[in-house]
Amino acid sequence: MDFNIKSGNPEKQRTACVIVGIFESRRLSTAAKAIDAISKKYLSNLIRRGDMDGNKGQYLLLHNVPGMIADRVLLIGCGKEREIDERNYRTIIANSIQALNNTGSLDGVNYLSELSIKGRDHHWKIRQAVQIAEHSLYQFDELKTKKKANRRPLRKITFTVPTRRELPQGEIAMQEGRAIANGIKFTRDLANRPSNVCTPTYLAQQATALGKKHRSLTIDTLEEADMKKLGMGSLLSVSQGSARPPKLITMEYKGSKKAQKPIVLVGKAVTFDTGGISLKPGAAMDEMKYDMCGGASVFGTISAVAELGLPINVVGVIPAVENMPSSTATNPGDIFTSMSGQTIEVLNTDAEGRLILCDAITYSERFNPEVVIDIATLTGAVVIALGKHATGLLSNHNPLARELLNAGDESGDRAWQLPLWDDYQQQLNSPFADMANIGGRDAGTITAACFLSRFAEKYHWAHLDIAGTAWISGNNKGATGRPVSLLMQYILNQAK
Ligand code: BES
Ligand code: MN
Ligand code: ZN
Repeated sequence: MDFNIKSGNPEKQRTACVIVGIFESRRLSTAAKAIDAISKKYLSNLIRRGDMDGNKGQYLLLHNVPGMIADRVLLIGCGKEREIDERNYRTIIANSIQALNNTGSLDGVNYLSELSIKGRDHHWKIRQAVQIAEHSLYQFDELKTKKKANRRPLRKITFTVPTRRELPQGEIAMQEGRAIANGIKFTRDLANRPSNVCTPTYLAQQATALGKKHRSLTIDTLEEADMKKLGMGSLLSVSQGSARPPKLITMEYKGSKKAQKPIVLVGKAVTFDTGGISLKPGAAMDEMKYDMCGGASVFGTISAVAELGLPINVVGVIPAVENMPSSTATNPGDIFTSMSGQTIEVLNTDAEGRLILCDAITYSERFNPEVVIDIATLTGAVVIALGKHATGLLSNHNPLARELLNAGDESGDRAWQLPLWDDYQQQLNSPFADMANIGGRDAGTITAACFLSRFAEKYHWAHLDIAGTAWISGNNKGATGRPVSLLMQYILNQAK
């Protein structure tokens, strides 16, 4: 999609469709008032007749509105003006884009980016609008032979700012929004691809391709033999049951001085999680193709950072494996030595995410990180605790946790913190090894993070459990692209 930023009056826009808001009950927005004035009260007459109340979800498409250069005027119901908060703003924009897409317009000028929201400036509104527009038009149909072809596809969306003074701010916001939206699309595409396409080898190829696209990126992939040499017994204990070889992918983005310590993002990429010998039940097992969403979000974030050329250093580390039951798979009770030297008794082969992450976190030491953030579809328990709305956040450094929580609030891609108190650590005790890989039924998300924390003691580290937020199930099954937006907000804040 092409995006553009403009200021100026709605009646002067030469476009297929001008989009303006109507508030409950029957009140015109500023842009709608301008159209009403030029059209000799065309809008207020129509509203008085009861064609539109301004309720949320309502819309009305008008043709040949007097005084307008545009072919169409699309009225969007915005609900009560006072009640437009961030969440409502997002739905209003999404509704307007869907409605616009259905009109057959090839382009549109959208005045809804001027709605006022308490505490949010034009930059925020434009960036959100661009991201939402791209998000709501997303389809994953590359594996369908009969695609839903849109006869007249939307090509360009213009969002507006009130005056020329806000144009520069709007331009920057649009560029950021576009790069983030592209990153999110990249993440969703990778995640939606099935596990027979999206294998560890495939992910490594994607990294190489991304490296070709951006000179600022250095790509390196470790093979099984390399990992053996480094002593990554924990990671390899997961991949040993699969015929598909494991890969440890690193993507280094250099946008700042060499001496500046990087943000390291570690993303779990289990391209399919059967559970291994501790086999999962069959219901909805197809969704375990999404067990690589953490890795996919690192791809999306790195690509957005590179697209924007941010003045900061970021490294992506992606352990990519498939978790299969087979004659060479790990048996419950098997003990392995991790790269850190600590030994692990694998009591449940379905708690595999932490087994690959711990070695990837240890490996990250070589980048001398400022902070390490891992992103993983780690526990079903986080879905029980927080549902599908918030990402679980745990950290060994409270200021880092605060920054990530703030980035979540600001981007609308929210996280919620759970405690990482030492009280929980004893649940991981093992009679035979330094630790077990599971901690019992209680506090499953916390004990998983406790496990990881034992490998992250040397630095400031945070863990994002995205098992609830990375994809949605049901009729609209698909990857969400979370938490790319949160991570990008965090990185943009750091780059300032
Ligand atoms: N990938 C799963 C977590 C998961 C489950 C994400 C369901 C989304 C939906 C992870 O590898 C896993 O299986 N975790 C186990 C851990 C348990 C064995 C301690 C879980 O959550 O059941
Ligand atoms: Mn598992
Ligand atoms: Zn898993």
